[in-house]
Amino acid sequence: MNDDAVLIRELKAHDGREVSIRGWLHGRRASGKIAFLLVRDGTGTVQCVVEAAHGEAFRAAAEIGHESSPRVRGTVRLDERAQGGAELAVTGIEVVQNVADYPIARKEHGVDFLMTHRHLWLRSPRQCAILRIRDALIRSIQAFFAERGFVRIDTPILSPGAAEGAGTLFPVDYFGEKVFLAQTGQLYLEAAAMALGRVYCFGPTFRAEKSKTRRHLTEFWMVEPEVAWAELPDLMDLAEGLICRLVADVLAGHRADLALLDRDVAPLEKIVAPFPRITYSEAVEQLRSPATHERLQAGLEADRRRLVEDQARLADLEAQLAAAKKGWQQEKLGREIAVLRESVRDLGQDLENRPAHIEGARTFAWGHDLGGDEETILTRLHDRPILVSRYPRDVKAFYMKPDPADPRVVLNLDVLAPEGYGEIVGGSQREDRLDALQARMREENMDPAPYEWYLDLRRHGTVPHGGFGLGLERTVAWICGLRHIRETIPFPRLMGRIYP
Ligand code: 4AD
Ligand code: MG
Repeated sequence: MNDDAVLIRELKAHDGREVSIRGWLHGRRASGKIAFLLVRDGTGTVQCVVEAAHGEAFRAAAEIGHESSPRVRGTVRLDERAQGGAELAVTGIEVVQNVADYPIARKEHGVDFLMTHRHLWLRSPRQCAILRIRDALIRSIQAFFAERGFVRIDTPILSPGAAEGAGTLFPVDYFGEKVFLAQTGQLYLEAAAMALGRVYCFGPTFRAEKSKTRRHLTEFWMVEPEVAWAELPDLMDLAEGLICRLVADVLAGHRADLALLDRDVAPLEKIVAPFPRITYSEAVEQLRSPATHERLQAGLEADRRRLVEDQARLADLEAQLAAAKKGWQQEKLGREIAVLRESVRDLGQDLENRPAHIEGARTFAWGHDLGGDEETILTRLHDRPILVSRYPRDVKAFYMKPDPADPRVVLNLDVLAPEGYGEIVGGSQREDRLDALQARMREENMDPAPYEWYLDLRRHGTVPHGGFGLGLERTVAWICGLRHIRETIPFPRLMGRIYP
């Protein structure tokens, strides 16, 4: 069979013609003298109808296993009801490799198993949808900044010092010298901003996060704009504009992918400017207020009732599974049970921790950093991302500029994504005065030697400036509605996970 293969996505344009496609077997069904193969090629999935009259193809169709790689020849038939609008009436099948033992069955698998088989798990429709949305976000980010005259700067990954705290550095042996994987491109970007005005970097960054959470990777991608002459309100406008653009582009181009992920798009459709802008001190008030407390308690009661309902439904599905006779019924029920069981387990855990979080919010003391739990609570009080500014200086990075009106706080911003997702953006106006920066570095016991070049920027034409970083994976998790960050990147790096 020669390789005049067409992409499944383009089949509709070949109505009535005999063509061949190449791909992987996604599913199979037989009924008497007819077999149906679902073949996917990355651009789409098509049903291939094989009749017994085509003896050789029919035999091949009977033997071919899940994720085998066939070339399939057949006549294209437009069909409104078919996935992708067309199906293939098969005339021949060439099996490049027949697979009998694909490890990811259609039945349920635990997350650990799937993560260990990540190289194969990527082939599932859900994972493909996530990766397409990730790609769309990357392109959207690049377009957003290019349209505004930003120059992309690629900052180094090997760096001599810390920028986001010494506690999360990955050391690397650099010809006998101890250097580190970059936690951010920001400091280098500040140099580039003094050269080009508006710049951004977009690349992998590394943090030795020693905690296993739903929000932390040890290797993640961050887009960081840095703008000369920008002050805090300018940075807020820029972050708001970027986030609105990202959501709008995904809604415009990826409805089918969002549907495949069962993402409720109603909350995404509300993501339009202006976002609420509050200070850290106001956030603390909101956390501590009796009205918030009542709301959180009511939410807790509602979720407790939901858990009981879900548990009953799970028991019911399990009984149905025990009674199911047909293979396809067992598969379908098995999948439903796996999804529900995971959500029941998560909700159960969440409900166990919730009373402590609610109490933590009620008694939250000014001066502490907002943690994931506080962020989750705050975001549930709003239906748009919130811009929180002016955190206590003592919990923030050395390069942030104190607020001249209240030096206990810095001119920073965090953006908290709604629906409990929490921080997706962190940034600030930078300390642009040499003496103030040096004083803060002494206070933090930082060795100035690796930072002399950075201090130089404050010696030679210093100006107000600032920027922020948006975490790509947290943004993907939020927009896709994923519970855990591990599915947002092709090969996640987490504490305790480096394979595959
Ligand atoms: O708030 P962060 O630490 O800010 C910076 O790194 C600044 N230097 C950025 C800047 O001003 N140019 O990180 C920024 C964002 C976070 O809001 C979050 O979205 C993401 O990066 N992030 C992580 N994402 C996944 N896993 C982790 N361990 C992350 N740490 C930060
Ligand atoms: Mg941060």
